[in-house]
Amino acid sequence: MAVIAGNWKMHMAPEEARAFFCAFQVDPVMADHEIVIFPPSVSLFTACECEYRDPRVQLGIQNLHWEDRGAFTGEISASMAVRAGANYALLGHSERRHVFGETDEQVALKVASALRHDLIPVVCVGETLEEREAGRVDEVILRQLDSALVSIPDPETRFLIAYEPVWAIGTGKTATPLDAAAAHGTLRGRLERAMGAATAARTEILYGGSVQPSNAAILLAACDVDGVLVGGASINPESFTEIARASG
Ligand code: PGA
Repeated sequence: MAVIAGNWKMHMAPEEARAFFCAFQVDPVMADHEIVIFPPSVSLFTACECEYRDPRVQLGIQNLHWEDRGAFTGEISASMAVRAGANYALLGHSERRHVFGETDEQVALKVASALRHDLIPVVCVGETLEEREAGRVDEVILRQLDSALVSIPDPETRFLIAYEPVWAIGTGKTATPLDAAAAHGTLRGRLERAMGAATAARTEILYGGSVQPSNAAILLAACDVDGVLVGGASINPESFTEIARASG
């Protein structure tokens, strides 16, 4: 069993979300996987209410503000996301960090807010190409992980990690299974030291970055890869179906 997550980013308006759920059906091949879609927030409620959506396909919010309410024009709180149908929150995605300047501290506040409202956080970590070439992969992803873990004091809490090397996102360049396994092993090792062996073994670590039908199975088979976070290939029901049918 793996987690197959789709991050729609700024694609899929409400009527497109409905069309997707009409075309994407959970079949017996993928039924063991946990399938999660992160629509843009404007389509979340439509996705939640959509009569075509198999209830086994769960929903998440792509980002949230850490305050519960207030004068924060343009922002959405965790409690609103829950009421619109989210069970998961994608936090610290590299586009949030690098395009919108989100800091480790802000990601930690968002993780805390998600947990207060019973959303399952999916914490994204990943290095840029420059950081990889400078041999700083472990330093960067562990710093990002450590700062999020500050908001997860209880080892019983369910959360997920997504390792998404920035240079692999939307570029068609995928990490090799060995690169993914190395980073995932580093992250799991840190989880074990910080939260104990049971939490480390239980916590799913997803790989993201140019996951396609052609490479999903080989990535899912890599050591310590418990699922995939799919961007571009998740908005097409056919390619997402093929990915969801893959297993490691
Ligand atoms: P991609 O995006 O699959 O289009 O590379 C992955 C992500 O950003 O989550």
